Formats: sequence, structure tokens, C-alpha cells
Amino acid sequence: MCLLASTHMLHLSRVTWTTFTSESSLSFSLPDHPNTSEMDLFFAIFTVAEIALLLLFISFCTLLLRIFTGKSIKNPEYPPVMGTVFNQLFYFSTLYDYQADVARKHRTFRLLAPSQSEIYTTDPRNIEHILKTNFDKYSKGQYNQNIFTDLFGQGIFAVDGYKWRQQRKLASFEFSTRVLRDFSSAVFRRNAAKLGRTISEFTISNQTFDIQDVLMRCSLESIFKVGFGVDLNCLGGSSKEGSAFIKAFDDSNALVYWRYVDPFWKLKRFLNMGSEAVLRKNMKLIDGFVYGIIQGKRKQLSVKGDSKDKEDILSRFLVESEKDPRMMTDQYLRDIILNFMLAGKDSTANTLSWFFYMLCKNPLIQEKIAQEVREVVFSTKDNEASIDDFAMEITDATLEKMHYLHAALTETLRLYPAVPVDGRCSETDDVLPDGYRLKRGDDVYYLTYAMGRMSYIWGEDAEDFRPDRWLNNGVFQPESPFKFVAFHAGPRICLGKDFAYRQMKIVAMVLLRFFRFKLRDNEKQVTYKTMFTLHINGGLNLIAVSRLGLAKEN
Ligand code: HEM
Repeated sequence: MCLLASTHMLHLSRVTWTTFTSESSLSFSLPDHPNTSEMDLFFAIFTVAEIALLLLFISFCTLLLRIFTGKSIKNPEYPPVMGTVFNQLFYFSTLYDYQADVARKHRTFRLLAPSQSEIYTTDPRNIEHILKTNFDKYSKGQYNQNIFTDLFGQGIFAVDGYKWRQQRKLASFEFSTRVLRDFSSAVFRRNAAKLGRTISEFTISNQTFDIQDVLMRCSLESIFKVGFGVDLNCLGGSSKEGSAFIKAFDDSNALVYWRYVDPFWKLKRFLNMGSEAVLRKNMKLIDGFVYGIIQGKRKQLSVKGDSKDKEDILSRFLVESEKDPRMMTDQYLRDIILNFMLAGKDSTANTLSWFFYMLCKNPLIQEKIAQEVREVVFSTKDNEASIDDFAMEITDATLEKMHYLHAALTETLRLYPAVPVDGRCSETDDVLPDGYRLKRGDDVYYLTYAMGRMSYIWGEDAEDFRPDRWLNNGVFQPESPFKFVAFHAGPRICLGKDFAYRQMKIVAMVLLRFFRFKLRDNEKQVTYKTMFTLHINGGLNLIAVSRLGLAKEN
């Protein structure tokens, strides 16, 4: 059959040749039968094609063998097998809801991968076991590290052991200092007011706007200032370089995540093609931008007596790098920066975006928070020119009193966790508290997004947005970190949790004091983009109405 088709192709090419050559070709007669060299060429092509097909077939069989052997598939001591990792490729665009569907039937289950089992769990007992009680038996795992090292390098998110402990110690110290706390609060207030003024301009010109986009810019500006002492000025959209950087960074985040479902990513990286070629191009842009910041900062710090800039996290690491220049290279500092950027930019901006989405869907809750803001921060001036004055009145003491807002933000994270799936890799064979066994090298993922929707964890109203579930007599009540696991738990619990709440509360207070928000299109389906952090796919277009104007009309 193949032979026939190929001979047919040979004839076709000869016809085409005679048709497309000039008039002179009319007098040029081709032989009726292919000559010996044509036959040789034909058989050579045919043989290569055959070998390629055979190799493909062998690779496919090897892949199947690797997926299905040595995994104790039928053994009930191991979690039930719900498919292979290719299921995730099939459900990629709705991945977290697919996981929630499976988790409704099985609190712990497995998907088979070529070299290991991927175990998924929603059981808080298992989560406590892997994140805290048996912390040393679990790591990030080589498989995960291979996937995200191009983006995260040797930063805190990607490493274990000594490198992790070193970064954790330094950063924990920084996050606990009064200097950083005061400096960051001042930055958050300034940027929240700036955001308020930006939205005020939208209301005046009757424009709709993408809240996720402006929140991303606002939080990027804050993390740059707090993390690296740099004014990015991307909220006004004036920094082209900054905008290009955000795009490259966000795209790289999504492209790296794609590797989890693309079995050919290593080959594509080697050949520099497709998604991997785009990733490499983005990384070049990102690296150029970040190395520029590091060099600028080194120069600033070399100026004697310039102690003001030591308020930011990068300066702290730079001082450290002078003690150990071999270890703290520019490459290492670049990794630290990108990790803090990822931690600080997307998480808070995404959470606030989903928070405003929930408030638009639940206008009574929106009004209740606005009321709480008015009660807690009493402002004598009541016009939009006073946005800055209002922001300056938000102190640590006022933030402490915002129980309902705190509950609404936590409820947002329960349903829309910034990190929807997270996990660890087992370094030894182990038995989980629910009785299931796992093998060395297996990954154990906890399904934060799915957990928020499980009635067996949160009750029958698990899928409802109900901030009151977090309040007892109006006072916020925290939950076990293994049940509400949005900030991770155990020794690697999120370092920026208080920092994030402070930033989110300041932004929410300023915006809800001055504006009421509505969705531009109530019918449009709002869903996520599958990547490391839970972005709203395509952004969230809102209309803001000035509360001051409303008050006057009333
Ligand atoms: C709503 C906001 C946030 C959420 C939901 C969140 C969530 C998380 C989660 C799930 C992890 C564990 C990731 C892993 O397995 O490696 C984590 C780690 C971390 N977070 Fe956050 N985060 C938030 C904001 C922030 C902010 C604003 C910062 C700092 C600027 C920050 C700094 C960190 C750091 C440094 C780690 C690594 C901790 C370690 O591995 O020891 N986070 N966060």
C-alpha cells in the first residue's frame, strides 16, 4: 500500500515538473520508468520512514510499559488509580474542577506517570503528615525541580536543604523586622491611593477597566519597592519596559506550567522550538531586566552612607552576598528576585481580583464591607481628592479591627486559592494517615482548589461564598492550616502571609471606601487560566461607580 502510494507520488512529481518548466521542457522527454538512482533514493526514503515509525512504536510501547508496570495498580493498599497524567492534558483548561470532580468520590487517588505515581489528596490528615509531621521525608522532588528550574532557578520555591534553610532564615528575619513592616505599609498605602486615583479617572470618563490588570500593576509596583527598593511606575502604564517584563514573566509562568502535561518539552527545549522557543526568548528578556536591577542596586549600595535603601529585601541579600560572594552570585540573586516576585505579585493581585469578582456577585457583602470600612476609619473629608488622606489614616490598629474584610478575603482564598495545587515528593516508601501506601519518588499533591468545594470538609454550603463562616460573634476565627491550606503549612508555610493580608486589606479598604463595583457583563463566564497561580482567564472587566457621587445623588 505504502509502496503504491509512493510510486504514485513519484509520478505526480514528474507530471508537476513537466507542467511547470518552460517551453523548452516540451522537447525534453523523461524516461517512462524510474532510473536506478531514483529507485535507490526512493528505497532509502522508504527505509528511513519505516525505521522512524518503528522507533515511534517502540517508544510508545516503552512509555506504556513504564506507566503501567511496577505501580501496584490493583493493590488496594495503594490509592485508587483514576487514569494517567494524560488525563490532565485532556482536561487542561478546567484542570482544577476535574480534580474536584474526582475528589468528590475519592479523597485520595492516583494518576500514573512514566516514572512514578502522582497522588492527589484532599485529606487534612495526609496534608499535616507530608507538610509537618514527616517534613524531612518529603522534598520538592527532582521531577518538579526539572520543570521549573529554568524560571525559578535556585530560589526559595525551588530548593530544599541548605539553600532553602539559608534563604528562609534570612527572609524570615526580614519579614519580622519593624523596619520592613513600616516601610511596606507605607508603600501599600501610597500605591493603594494611586490605584484609587487611577480608578477615579475611569469613573469620570465612564470607562470600564480590567481590575486584574490594574491590580497586577499595583502589586508589582509594591513588591518592586518593598523587595528591591525600585520605583517601577507601571501603574500609570508609563513604563514600557515594565509592561514588557510583566508580559514575559506571566507568559513564562504559563509556559513552564505547560511542561507538566507536555511529554516532549525536553526535546522541544533541546531543539529550541514551539513553546520552549517562546519560553527561552521570554527568559532572555526577564534576565536582562533583573540583572539590570541587581547591577543598579550594587552601584547604589557602593555609595558610602546610603543606608536608606537597606529597607528593602534585595539590599539585605546584597549585604549578605559580600560575606559569601562565591555563593551569592548575580545568578543566585536573580533567582531570589524572581521567586519573591512570583510570591508577591501574582498571589495578592489574583486573590484581590477574585475577591472583587465575589463582591460583584454578592452586592450585599460588598456593602457590608464598605460599611465596616466607614465605621473603622472615620474620615472627616469626603471627596475623591482625599483618597490619599484616607489611605494615610489606615494604621495597623485599624487593620486589626477589619474582621469582616479579613473573613471575606479568607473566604475568597478558600474558594479561589492563589496556588490551586501544591505538593511534595516522597523520599522514602511511606504510609499516609488515611492508610494508603506510597513509594519512594511518588509525588503527593494536595488539592487546595478542590478542597474548598468539598462538602465533607466545609459542610453542605461548601461552594457558597459566605464570609460569616469565619466569624464568631463578629471576631475572625482561623481554621487549621491543614484544612485551610491556601498558605501551605508546616516549616515551609508562606512567609508573606501577614504581609499579603496587610497589602490586600489596605487596597480593598481604599477602593471600597470610594467606589462601588459592578461586572461589565453579568452573563460572561468567569474562569481561570491553568498555571502556577490562579489567574482569571482574560481578566475581569468592571464598572466602578463613585460612592461619593451616589451619596450626593441620594
Ligand atoms: C494571597 C497571598 C499569598 C498566598 C495565597 C500565598 C501562598 C503560598 C503558598 C501556597 C506557598 C507554598 C509554595 C511552595 O510549596 O513552595 C507559599 C510560599 C511562600 N510565600 Fe506565599 N503566598 C501569598 C503571598 C505572599 C507574599 C506577598 C509573599 C512575599 C512577598 C510571599 C512569600 C512566600 C515565600 C517566600 C514562600 C516560600 C516559603 C518557603 O518555601 O519556605 N507569599 N506562599
